[in-house]
Amino acid sequence: MDPGQVYDLLRNLTTPVVAITCARSGRKNGMISDGVIRAGILPDVPRLVVQIHKWHLTHEIIAETGRFAVHLLRRGQIDVVTRLGFVSGRERDKLALLPHHPGAGGTPILDDCYAWFDCTVLNRMDAGFATFFLGQAVDVGRGTGDEVLEPQHLRDALPPEYRALYQPNLEAARALARPLAELPHPSRT
Ligand SMILES: Cc1cc2nc3c(=O)[nH]c(=O)nc-3n(C[C@H](O)[C@H](O)[C@H](O)COP(=O)(O)O)c2cc1C
Repeated sequence: MDPGQVYDLLRNLTTPVVAITCARSGRKNGMISDGVIRAGILPDVPRLVVQIHKWHLTHEIIAETGRFAVHLLRRGQIDVVTRLGFVSGRERDKLALLPHHPGAGGTPILDDCYAWFDCTVLNRMDAGFATFFLGQAVDVGRGTGDEVLEPQHLRDALPPEYRALYQPNLEAARALARPLAELPHPSRT
């Protein structure tokens, strides 16, 4: 099948748009993801999986600290996406203008969101270009809003200057991912 068609099919598996935050020795950061999944059915054992590309500052911090927070965003929170999802924290302090407070383990929790999950890493899987971190929420909070930000809402509401950046950013990420895609075949024994 044509790779473009394959990606169109894969995009059906996209999840709500979330902000992922982390911190290391006072250095705070955040990024955007539309690939965070629920990883269990037990309400008293809230787990989720985030997939983070290895070249992101967020990856470096989570890999080292074993902590992150996931925030479901409200439908109107496009500004959070444009602040966190289009430039690396290596270039600027992206949380400077986003009000937040420290969670129990020091991870920044955004004051304004639909809901948040403050997590510790239980396990991790090397996916070549990314790491899948399995997190367990040690604290969960509900913010405000009636509807979470879905990818289609984002596509409809993204300002033109960011819309113009979306495809070039995706292509740049693909160029970084390509040489890291190979994984050793798992042993069958
Ligand atoms: C809608 C959207 C979804 C994204 N999903 C992911 C994702 O699932 N995993 C990932 O590693 N990066 C994802 N990104 C890219 C990062 O959010 C972005 O590159 C960010 O600037 C990385 O920041 P950092 O280097 O400060 O960690 C997404 C970006 C957008 C706009």
